[in-house]
Amino acid sequence: MMKLLCGITLLLAVAVAYYIYIPLPRAISEPWKLMVLDATFRGVVSMGDVAHSLGLSHRVHVINSAIINFESLVPVTNQEIQAEDILFDGVHVRVYHPPGREEKLRRAVMFIHGGGWALCAPKLGSYDSLCRQMAADLDAVVVTVDYRMAPDVRFPVQYDECVQAAKHFLRPEVLAQYSVDPERVAVCGDSAGGNLAAAVAQRIGIDNSSSVKFKLQVLIYPVLQALDFNTASYQQNQNVPILYRTLMARFWLEYLDGDLALLHSIIKNKHTAQDQNQNLLSFSRSKLNWTNLLPKRLIKHYKPIFPLTGSPKILKDLPALLDARAAPLLAEDEVLRMTPRAYILTGEHDVLRDDGMMYARRLELAGVSVTNDHYEDGFHGCVTFAFWPCYFSVGIRAVQNYIAWLDEHL
Ligand SMILES: *[C@@H]1O[C@H](CO)[C@@H](O)[C@H](O)[C@H]1NC(C)=O
Ligand SMILES: *[C@@H]1O[C@H](CO)[C@@H](O)[C@H](O)[C@H]1NC(C)=O
Repeated sequence: MMKLLCGITLLLAVAVAYYIYIPLPRAISEPWKLMVLDATFRGVVSMGDVAHSLGLSHRVHVINSAIINFESLVPVTNQEIQAEDILFDGVHVRVYHPPGREEKLRRAVMFIHGGGWALCAPKLGSYDSLCRQMAADLDAVVVTVDYRMAPDVRFPVQYDECVQAAKHFLRPEVLAQYSVDPERVAVCGDSAGGNLAAAVAQRIGIDNSSSVKFKLQVLIYPVLQALDFNTASYQQNQNVPILYRTLMARFWLEYLDGDLALLHSIIKNKHTAQDQNQNLLSFSRSKLNWTNLLPKRLIKHYKPIFPLTGSPKILKDLPALLDARAAPLLAEDEVLRMTPRAYILTGEHDVLRDDGMMYARRLELAGVSVTNDHYEDGFHGCVTFAFWPCYFSVGIRAVQNYIAWLDEHL
């Protein structure tokens, strides 16, 4: 009996280790922590898929309830920061402000959270901690946008809500109400929030109805395009947790309301194959031509992937793939030129590294000053893993560094 029990325990331990273990790039610090985090996340995603196929719940709702349950356990930090949940032109936002009314005007950051336009809770756990830390360290007003998400709403609703909230906040009378200096407001976002922050910065830049503009844009491993799922970083990091290439492609399909059955076509770039409307494509493609926009040390041995034949229907069914409001990397130089000074954080072990790097280069070519903070040991999501109980040294460092940059330049 005892032997049998030992045998079963051993088998279980091996099975768990097998499930958790994945080979990771050597540069990643704390690899076991990342493996456990990744295995948990993979488990939740699989649970979502099972519940979805049984018709119990949408897969995204299952993942989100797991995230919300976890985030609810995270203790609230910087409790002296006051939080107020209100509407900005009909859009849910939370405004954080340091206690007391200063004589002088404060700085402000509008923050847009990530989670693939579908996941995460801006008012809970790590995002709440992050906003409180920005408010405390910068002595600034921080507005986090609680935009509605997929699958309940799709593009362009997430984008529209962020633009509406930004335009409302930048109104002189609203800034005055929060004692904010109109010359010192930044927009900031991570991952899909970096996508929305970049798109909002473009929109406010060209918007003649907003007299107040953002002073800075802070884009943390932003996702900026969906025409090439085979950039050097997509190829290099397709199997690096926690943002696998297939997961990123699924988020895009959820956002743009595409059929998930298209997943295997788009990760092979079948939607931009050579049998497509080349006039349309070559124009967009030149804006994400990574053989041209990236330094050789990042390209390494990777080659662009343009299949000869593909699925022309995809671009027809999902025109947003070519829309700069969804994919800010596709914006014209004239639009980029009107955006504010930029800080772009990238991680070497992130499929989105090259989205950020290409955007940094295009902004520079358009005359915008860019600081690119690149983490050799960075992986996607590290900035949200900077708080107890789930933290990584690279996450803590990245948060300190981007806030220090804001402190210096805002
Ligand atoms: C804003 O004004 C400029 C110059 O007057 C004009 O070229 C541009 O089209 C206007 N933008 C919008 C969005 O109306
Ligand atoms: C990308 O850039 C390379 C090198 O400058 C060039 O040879 C190639 O034609 C470009 N491709 C596109 C699609 O613009």
